[in-house]
Amino acid sequence: MTSSVIQTHPYTFARQLSTLDHLSGGRVGWNVVTSALENAHRNYGGAGLARHGDRYDRAEEYLEVCYKLWEGSWEDDALLADKTLEHDRGIGLHADPAKVAKIQHRSANYQVEGPHLSSPSPQRTPLIFQAGSSPRGRQVAAEHAEATFSMAPRREQAAEHAADVRRRAVQAGRSASDVKFIQGVSFVIGSTETDAQAKAADLDASLDEHALIAHTGGSLGVDLGYLPLDTPIGELTTEGSMGHLNELRKMNPDGTMTVRDLARFRAHATRITGTPEQIVDELELWQDAGVDGLNIINATLPGSYVEFIDHVLPELRRRGMARTQDEIHEANGTTLRGRLTGQNRLPASHPAAQYRGAFTDYSAAATERSRAAVLGEAETSV
Ligand SMILES: Cc1cc2nc3c(=O)[nH]c(=O)nc-3n(C[C@H](O)[C@H](O)[C@H](O)COP(=O)(O)O)c2cc1C
Repeated sequence: MTSSVIQTHPYTFARQLSTLDHLSGGRVGWNVVTSALENAHRNYGGAGLARHGDRYDRAEEYLEVCYKLWEGSWEDDALLADKTLEHDRGIGLHADPAKVAKIQHRSANYQVEGPHLSSPSPQRTPLIFQAGSSPRGRQVAAEHAEATFSMAPRREQAAEHAADVRRRAVQAGRSASDVKFIQGVSFVIGSTETDAQAKAADLDASLDEHALIAHTGGSLGVDLGYLPLDTPIGELTTEGSMGHLNELRKMNPDGTMTVRDLARFRAHATRITGTPEQIVDELELWQDAGVDGLNIINATLPGSYVEFIDHVLPELRRRGMARTQDEIHEANGTTLRGRLTGQNRLPASHPAAQYRGAFTDYSAAATERSRAAVLGEAETSV
């Protein structure tokens, strides 16, 4: 799921995701976004689009709060759910007071005392996705993401993006393979090449220029509706999706591509047309460029997915590029992270891991002890 850091307070959000992780058996992934659209900010209390760098600052602050709650507030064996009344005070114990701690977080945007309201879920922190590709977006991906979405229009750009983020991840003390690359691709699948080309022409005939422009403007964070259609893209600026605009500019260094061209180009940019064998030949090249997985963009619903599953997936499996259900079940755990990385929990090299066991001084038992000590001193001095 995608959730923006402006739409829910992190204390509530962390609880919601822990609940989902419990209910789904650890099948939750979170695509961390900052809201690149102006109206989103106006609907969530802002005056307008917050600046690009400020949005990422806030996202990192938000992540820190969530990590502290997910990883640091409860120890693994804190939940007792013990209804017997054999404890000190003749009451049952839901959780061990020595193993549930407040987090006492204070930062520019968030003051969160804790403790987290949910016991540890199968993954604790959901699998972290990130989708920005500006320099700052890449840095955040390198430090935090376990998977990143690429919308690179060409393989060469996907290769550069993946190599850059992996280099930054290593600099941040993680492994290059800790960040998986998930490329957005759409498919037009035919039983023959001619059949596929005819289907592509049919789809193109249904494209609506104005709808394409509205959609493209939305994803760039630029209101293209006010601009003449022959405006060169070299003249566009955005506080929204900078990485995306940069990639499009790189495709057209002389800046002659217009808003009209852009919309049509985007509709075809990462579309692969052909027979299943031809499509998988092309996907092999994307894999060689550093792409680990696909975000399948649909042209029809549910047709695009049904056709992919029926025709392309068997060919991917035949070539060992996709696992069978049995292989998935045998190889890894049952959580989303387990299936992707082999581990249900984040590795020690991830920044969230630093909060494990970091708040024991703020546990209910420690607080009780220090309160008793203060009271004891008070009694002595009386
Ligand atoms: C699959 C996918 C889904 C996205 N969903 C959202 C979204 O819901 N909200 C949003 O603001 N940005 C969304 N984005 C855009 C990016 O997350 C990011 O906010 C944007 O690219 C700006 O970052 P950048 O300037 O670092 O590239 C999405 C991107 C991709 C590839």
